[in-house]
Amino acid sequence: IALAGSSAAFNALAAKPLVMGFSQVGAESEWRTANTVSIKDAAKKAGVNLKFADAQQRQENQVKAIRSFIAQRVDVIAFSPVVESGWDTVLREAKAAKIPVILTDRDVNVTDRSLVVTMIGSDFVEEGRRAARWLVDYAKKNPGKNLNIVELQGTVGSAPAIDRKAGFEEIIKGNPQLKIIRTQTGEFTRAKGKEVMEAFLKADGKNINVLYAHNDDMAIGAIQAIEEAGMKPGKDIVIVSIDGVKGAFEAMMQGKLNVTVECSPLLGPQLMQVAKDVVAGKPVPKRIVTQESVFPAEVAAKEFPNRKY
Ligand code: AHR
Repeated sequence: IALAGSSAAFNALAAKPLVMGFSQVGAESEWRTANTVSIKDAAKKAGVNLKFADAQQRQENQVKAIRSFIAQRVDVIAFSPVVESGWDTVLREAKAAKIPVILTDRDVNVTDRSLVVTMIGSDFVEEGRRAARWLVDYAKKNPGKNLNIVELQGTVGSAPAIDRKAGFEEIIKGNPQLKIIRTQTGEFTRAKGKEVMEAFLKADGKNINVLYAHNDDMAIGAIQAIEEAGMKPGKDIVIVSIDGVKGAFEAMMQGKLNVTVECSPLLGPQLMQVAKDVVAGKPVPKRIVTQESVFPAEVAAKEFPNRKY
């Protein structure tokens, strides 16, 4: 009888859906919207009870959301941190409550890595390198031509802004043709990308040869600014950006963007699988890196029908 009882209890437990608290950065870009859809769809398909909180790009909202997930005693917490630093205290609280924490998309900067079980997402440094390698090749095809670069950075203090800058600079360093003449945040949004590009154009106008944007949305905003200034984006100013969203493919097909480095937002299915494994006590790798490509304008029309975001 005792055995039958405990197996019934076990079955009841096994049937209970996993509860995940997820704190999202916000809805700042086409990429982010696709990421949210991927997470919500994957949770539904996996039978995961998802408690979703939008932080509207503010770290304090994420900290509040994580504390509320701890108070609700969810089975697992996942989040994409707005910025890299300032997480030690709240992550220690999650650990003390024995709730595993999984990072998706962006990493945190903590001294104790045992505070997070794993990190699923892109290698942002490599994305920056890929963007720069494309530009180095472009410069080789234009020998003797000096290329002044303006850079639109992502959210200040965020992992993709820090890493994409570092990767890009690592590759262009020492190349006499390539020089960053201005750099400023465009906060990963179209509106800010346009606004900052307008300021760059006012200051340097025709001296700008290249725009490196940390995401497609800022590049798309900047394209508008360049057109309004009477110049041709993709020709007068070469544009290199990151993400690979449909809007970037459309811009490439119109000849207004030269290349996009892929950063996949489709992390939902992997996240649900890893969360189930973690809760079941199975070992998971400390870092799960997304596989990605580079799409220059020449392949845009052929690739466009295959794009999922
Ligand atoms: O963290 C991923 C970045 O955040 C994407 O490149 C950008 O579009 C988003 O806002």
